[in-house]
Amino acid sequence: MKKLKCLMFGLLLSLFLCDGAKILVLFPVPSTSHGILGDNMVKHLLDGGHEVTYITPYVSKQPSHPKLRIIDVSDNRLYNDKMLNLKNIMSGAVNLKNNEVVFENLVNVAALTLENQNVQNLLKDRTYNFDVIIGEYMFTYLYSSLPAVLQCPFIWFSTTELHSMILDPMQGPLNPAYVSDYRVAQIAPYSFEVRVKMLWALLKELYQRNGKFYDKEEEIFMKLIAPIVKEHGRPVPNYNDLKYNASLLLENSQVAIGSAIPLPPNCKYIGGYHIPDSIQPLPEDLKKIMDNADNGVIYFSMGSILKSKDLPDGIKEGLLKLFGGLKQTVLWKFEDQLPGMPKNVHIMQWAPQQSILAHPNMVLFITHGGLLSLTEAVHFAVPVIVIPVFADQFLNANQAQRKGYAIKVDLTFYLHKDLKMALGKVLSDLPKYAERVKELSVAYHDKPMKPKDALNFWVNHVVKTKGAPHLKSVALQVPLYQRVYLDLIAVILVILIVLLKIFCLVTGKKSMKVKTN
Ligand SMILES: *[C@@H]1O[C@H](CO)[C@@H](O)[C@H](O)[C@H]1NC(C)=O
Repeated sequence: MKKLKCLMFGLLLSLFLCDGAKILVLFPVPSTSHGILGDNMVKHLLDGGHEVTYITPYVSKQPSHPKLRIIDVSDNRLYNDKMLNLKNIMSGAVNLKNNEVVFENLVNVAALTLENQNVQNLLKDRTYNFDVIIGEYMFTYLYSSLPAVLQCPFIWFSTTELHSMILDPMQGPLNPAYVSDYRVAQIAPYSFEVRVKMLWALLKELYQRNGKFYDKEEEIFMKLIAPIVKEHGRPVPNYNDLKYNASLLLENSQVAIGSAIPLPPNCKYIGGYHIPDSIQPLPEDLKKIMDNADNGVIYFSMGSILKSKDLPDGIKEGLLKLFGGLKQTVLWKFEDQLPGMPKNVHIMQWAPQQSILAHPNMVLFITHGGLLSLTEAVHFAVPVIVIPVFADQFLNANQAQRKGYAIKVDLTFYLHKDLKMALGKVLSDLPKYAERVKELSVAYHDKPMKPKDALNFWVNHVVKTKGAPHLKSVALQVPLYQRVYLDLIAVILVILIVLLKIFCLVTGKKSMKVKTN
C-alpha cells in the first residue's frame, strides 16, 4: 500500500514537473516550404513533450498524435499558379518584384486566417488555455496581437534571413548602413550609393509602417480580435503595445549562412531544424545512378513551387544540350516528359533533395536560392549556382556569392548561355568552391545545441520565465529620435541659429553705421 502511494505520488509529481507546455503554433501561409517549416517545428515540440495546437493549411499531411490538435485553414490562398509560372515571371507578365503587392497578399493571408471560422472558434472558446504562442512572421505583425485574447507570451518565427522588418518589433529600426534589407538585396559593406539607397528604403518603410500598413493592420485587429477581447470582459490593448511585446524571435537561419549583425538577446538562430538527424536512404534506382556517377553529380531544382517545365521551350532545349555536353551526371527535377534526353541527364518529377545532397558524389547544386535549399547546401557542404526568382531569393543569392560558395545567374531568356559560363567557372575551379562550402559547413554545424534542441530550450525558457522580460532589448524603451540624438542635433541647430541671428544683428548695425557715416 505504501509502495502504491509512493508510486502514485511519484506519477503525480512527474506530471506536475513535466516540461510539457500548451503551445499554439501558427504557420498559415499556403506555400510548401512554409509547410515544411511548420510541420517540423510541431514535430520537435511534440518530441519535446509539449501539447500542440497547430494552425495549418496542410491538414491531410499531419500525423495523428494524442498531443496534437489541428486547426484547419486550408481555405487560405496566396498566389495562384499563373503568378508563380516561370515563363510569366520571365516575360514580365507577372511582377513579383513589386513588394507592395506581395505585402498586401500576405496581410490578406493573415486576415483570412484570423477570420477563419475554425480560428475564431478557437479564440472565442475560453476552455482553451495556452502557455505560449509561436507565429510565423510573413510581413505582417498581426499575430502578435493574439496574446490580447489568449493571455500568454508570444514568439515570432522568421522564415527568411533576418531583415529590418522582422527585427523591428524586437529592437526597433536597425542601422541601414550594414543591416540587410531583402528589398535592396545587397550585402554589406555597401558602396556609398547603396548605403543611401538603404537609408531611403528604411525611411520609406518607417513612413509606411506607421502609416497605411499600420492602419490596415489595426483595422483588421479591431475587426477580428478586439471584439473577442471585449467578449472576454477585458479592456482592448493598444495595437502598437502588442506589436512591441513579443518575447522571442526564432530565426530560420544560422549566422554562418547569413550576416553577423548585432542582435538583442531574445533573437535565436534555429536554422536547419527541418533537416532530420538521419537522412532517408535514396530510392534504389536513384542510388544506383548516383553511386555510378564517376565524374560526380550535378543536381538542378527550382524548388517546390517553381516548375522547370514552365521554362520557355528554347531554354529547355538549350539547357538539355548544355547538360548533355557535361561529363558529370545531371539530375534535373522536371515535372514533365522531355524528348531527346542525353544519356547523362536524368529527370524526375519529385526529388528527395536532402538524400541527394547528402550523397558523396554530389559536386554542384543548381537552385532558385530558397533559404531551405541554401541551408541544405551548406549543411551537406555542396557548392551552388543560384538562379533567384522572387522574394528573398535575390538577397540569399548575393549572400551565398559573397560568402564564396556560389555563383549567381540571372533568370533571363539567355539562361542556358549564362548558366554555361557559370558552370564553366565553377567546374574548372571546383576544389576552391568545395573547400569554401566545407569551411562554412564546419562553422554551421559547430554549435552548443542542435537547432531542434535550441528551439525547445528557448520555448521552455519563455514559458518558465513568463515571457522572458529580462531578454527584451532596452532599445525598445528609447524612442528613435533619442537613439539617433535628433534632440541633441535640434539643440545644436537652435544654438547655431541664435548665434547667427546675434552675429547678423551686430554686423548689420555696424554696416548701417558705416552707411550713415
Ligand atoms: C506583454 O507580455 C507580457 C509577457 O507575456 C504580459 O505579461 C503582458 O501583459 C503583455 N502586455 C500587453 C500589453 O499585452
